[in-house]
Amino acid sequence: MLLTRLLKSATFRLTLAYLGVFSLSAMALFAFVYEASITFMEQQTRETVEAEIQGLREQYALGGLAGLERVIRQRAEAERNRASIYLLVDRWGGRVAGNIDAWPEGEVDENGLLRFTFERPRPDGRIEHRRALGKRFIVAGRWRLLVGRDVEDRIATQKLLLNAMTLGGGLMVVVGVLGGFALSRWTLARLEGINRATKFIMAGDLARRIRLEGTEDEFDELARNLNAMLDRIEALVAAMREVTDNIAHDLRTPLTRLRSRIDVALLGRLDEAEARALLEETMREADQLIATFNALLAIARAESGALRSEWEPVDLCAIAAEVFDLYEPLAEERGITLGLDSAEDVTVYGHPQLLAQALANLVDNAVKYTEPGGRVTIRVRGTPRPMLEVADNGPGIPETQRRRALERFVRLQPERSAPGNGLGLSLVDAVARLHEAELEMLDNAPGLRVRLVFDPAAQPKPAPAPAQKALH
Ligand SMILES: Nc1ncnc2c1ncn2[C@@H]1O[C@H](COP(=O)(O)OP(=O)(O)OP(=O)(O)O)[C@@H](O)[C@H]1O
Ligand SMILES: [Mg+2]
Repeated sequence: MLLTRLLKSATFRLTLAYLGVFSLSAMALFAFVYEASITFMEQQTRETVEAEIQGLREQYALGGLAGLERVIRQRAEAERNRASIYLLVDRWGGRVAGNIDAWPEGEVDENGLLRFTFERPRPDGRIEHRRALGKRFIVAGRWRLLVGRDVEDRIATQKLLLNAMTLGGGLMVVVGVLGGFALSRWTLARLEGINRATKFIMAGDLARRIRLEGTEDEFDELARNLNAMLDRIEALVAAMREVTDNIAHDLRTPLTRLRSRIDVALLGRLDEAEARALLEETMREADQLIATFNALLAIARAESGALRSEWEPVDLCAIAAEVFDLYEPLAEERGITLGLDSAEDVTVYGHPQLLAQALANLVDNAVKYTEPGGRVTIRVRGTPRPMLEVADNGPGIPETQRRRALERFVRLQPERSAPGNGLGLSLVDAVARLHEAELEMLDNAPGLRVRLVFDPAAQPKPAPAPAQKALH
């Protein structure tokens, strides 16, 4: 089981592949060394033979056949163990002098060298056959001379070299395979830890984390990254659970109300005018529910970030003018002065409807929470950074409450008569994050000043948008 896993592991296969490449190159190197040493040794033998022949030729030139014969005799005497071989035969093939008995048979290679075997008596009296390399040389009067070298020792050395290389190569492969095993075992052990933790997490134990070994290697880094990812997923799941809890809780009350109204209507004890009033109220309630759902959907859409394909250069001044037009009648009705201050043309890259909705939510809050007689101003600026601002002189939000006001379904003064369900600022926050804009909530002393400050660096350069002038 473990063995098959080891054999199948990527590390083991990688080690094998590496070993294969390494063995091939080592083999090529061995072959080269072997070949070169053979050539070198053979060359040496040939040179020795050639040098001797040259020497003997000179002897023959000086002393004639008799001189040559004498030298051969001397050398044959000196070479009793036949490391060098000499044989001088007369024109009929009869042995004149030398340390072997008969003219040997053999093949002549491309260098004119004769490969032959000769007999040598061993100290124990037995005869051994040894290989030799020699050269023939015709002396005047058809006498022939053979000079050779025993190469048996050289062949033995070559065999030894070959054996050593084969053994070394085999050892290398064995050590390599064992090393591959050890390495794979170690890698598998590390991955096993990660796999085990992942299985627990997949089975639902979201709080589980992968143990770090403290080796600070890539496995630790992987584990750390996975842990960070799990933290993030856990936080997201928790946030989502909270949102669904909130939604369930906040929608239950209006739905219950709706149901009890229908209940009253079904009792049938109402006259037509009462029934109509009840129905109208029910419809308003249903509209409110639809609005809540729409707000939730808009937040979800903004948070998913999936809307980037709909992004385009957005003229903030045009948006401000639109929202101003939309809210001016309502502000007037509530006795609030709504002002628009957008002196410049400011363009950012973003989602036009979401940006308009976010600004509308801010103006809605300002108009809703400011007392009659108050003043609300929509401001657009291009420097130092593109910015949308809504300022009022209402009650404002205490600094400690500002973060909390951004959460879904959070209303800071629910007892106030103003309708709403605490989703307006959540959408503003989601839109700000989608656009990588900063959402600042400042004290307007008195009142609240909310700003969306865009990062011009994060915006692709938009084409200049048509000018929109200030409105009041
Ligand atoms: N301009 C403001 N001045 C004072 N308080 C504010 C202002 N804007 C928001 N708030 C407070 O922050 C809370 C959250 O605002 P948010 O817009 O998220 O919800 P809402 O206005 O209550 O409901 P919705 O916007 O969903 O209709 C509000 O209930 C209100 O108490
Ligand atoms: Mg609101």
